[in-house]
Amino acid sequence: MSINEEKTNINQNDHEIDTLTNDRLIKDHSYDGIRELDNDLPPWWKWLFYITIIFAIIYMLGLWVFDWDSLYQEKEYNKEVAEAVKTAPKQQVQVELKVLTDASSLENGKATYDKICQVCHLLDGGGLVGPNFTDDYWIHGNSLEKMFAVVENGVIEKGMIPYKDQLPPTQRLEVISYIITLRGTIPASPKAPQGELLDWPY
Ligand code: HEC
Repeated sequence: MSINEEKTNINQNDHEIDTLTNDRLIKDHSYDGIRELDNDLPPWWKWLFYITIIFAIIYMLGLWVFDWDSLYQEKEYNKEVAEAVKTAPKQQVQVELKVLTDASSLENGKATYDKICQVCHLLDGGGLVGPNFTDDYWIHGNSLEKMFAVVENGVIEKGMIPYKDQLPPTQRLEVISYIITLRGTIPASPKAPQGELLDWPY
């Protein structure tokens, strides 16, 4: 039996064998004399196709049945944002400039003052290198904004240190609120007034 005959036997009804090339042609696919071959698909192509089907099934199960997080862009995005927020360095929060009067803020303020500020302003606020906080004379003004600015940026040429990097805003506000409570108290050895006599705004 020749190859020709063998092929013809397989699909007698649907195919014809080209007499010149021995190629299998689809019988009723002839368009203006152009014939269509009926070749088997190459195995690599078929396997790729089966794999895509298997992949699609797994994907659909993951999406609709098992609810895999990594298949949802939104879930993944939220997860990464949460992660980033957790690991990001704490941003300096802006505080509302308002004199704090609650006991715990004033206690914190005193702790900061006693640790850092008293070296120059003295424990009782009487003043040493830095000015007296118990009188009504102020060099840079006695409004909260002005005090906050002095503590934040310092007055380096006069020896007042900027605390921008050392004390976060809340802590600055606490220590200033504490300084405000020193006004009118009697220090052991008050430093002579410096600056202008100002009305007390609090
Ligand atoms: C190394 C010394 C030093 C330390 C420490 C220091 N200060 Fe001062 N501070 C000064 C001097 C000096 C001045 C006066 C600046 C000037 O003459 O302009 C001053 C001024 C100030 C003023 C403005 C007073 C005014 O009359 O306008 C405030 C408010 C103040 N300091 C708060 C603080 C606080 C709060 C701390 C602690 C966190 C602190 N200082 C720590 C030396 C210091």
